[in-house]
Amino acid sequence: MARILGIGIATLDIINTVDGYPTEDSEVRATHQRICRGGNVTNTLVVLSQLGHHCIWAGVLVDEPDAVLIRNDLAHHKINIQACRQLSHGKTPTSYILLNQRNGSRSIVHYRDLPEYRFADFCNVDLSGIDWLHFEGRNVDETCRMLHHARTYAPTLPRSIEIEKPRVGIEQLFPHADLLLLSRHYAQATGFTQPHEFLLHIRNRAPQADLVCAWGDAGAYGLTRTGNVLHSPAFPPPTLIDTLGAGDTLNAGIIHARIGGQNWGDALHVGCKLAGKKCGMAGLELQL
Ligand code: ADP
Ligand code: FRU
Repeated sequence: MARILGIGIATLDIINTVDGYPTEDSEVRATHQRICRGGNVTNTLVVLSQLGHHCIWAGVLVDEPDAVLIRNDLAHHKINIQACRQLSHGKTPTSYILLNQRNGSRSIVHYRDLPEYRFADFCNVDLSGIDWLHFEGRNVDETCRMLHHARTYAPTLPRSIEIEKPRVGIEQLFPHADLLLLSRHYAQATGFTQPHEFLLHIRNRAPQADLVCAWGDAGAYGLTRTGNVLHSPAFPPPTLIDTLGAGDTLNAGIIHARIGGQNWGDALHVGCKLAGKKCGMAGLELQL
């Protein structure tokens, strides 16, 4: 099993389940509430840990009551937090989430007012013994420097980058990736409605990288650096319960399969199967 270092965020997720998405200026009652740790990179690490990998998180933790739940969840999943930047003041980033029980859709209002993980913090992390680096596509300038540092000091270490949201300058990260894990949201925000056209466009900016784009209930599409075009259908669960973190789960499945030496077609299949399983249950305790 591999040692995987993930750089990104942890959040407090306050998830209210509702019977249909509410209309504006209405008042509805939640049918259920769950408060848990979230955040793309820590979600992916939690799934990778359940797949048997040794996971290390590099992000920012604050010494305040809401962070206790985050620390406990990471400890439960045996995720090492020694590479984290620990702050004595500040507020844990918080997501207020409406989960529609009719179709499993999740709508997120995210609030953050916390410094980001810095290049200077990353420089203190010992990269020897790490087998895979996975970055959340955020905090562009500092992340670019981290990627450059990793390429200089650990040139053979695979680097995946998740590109979920359009952010100013995010494309600067593309040339540093071995694997770009893109979202439909990002594709559509860039003006594309067809995944393969989108991937061909990205390829112009990142010819060195293998590309994957998640496409919700249409599964996931891929374009390898050697030009292979791939698709895996989604694997719908018997009942659609919760799609929150489906993309993070897909990414974990793909990274796991690639570390295990599986080809790209199989890796997409593994990722979509795992993501489909996740959509059929609440949260990320996948009982693997
Ligand atoms: P995100 O969680 O970032 O919004 P997506 O909605 O694109 O990501 O979903 C990621 C993956 O989860 C998809 O590639 C697919 O494999 C799986 N998935 C998402 N929605 C469904 C669904 N309704 N049924 C089955 N699988 C799904
Ligand atoms: C799901 C998620 C949530 C978090 C939000 C942050 O992908 O990581 O757990 O609140 O996205 O953008």
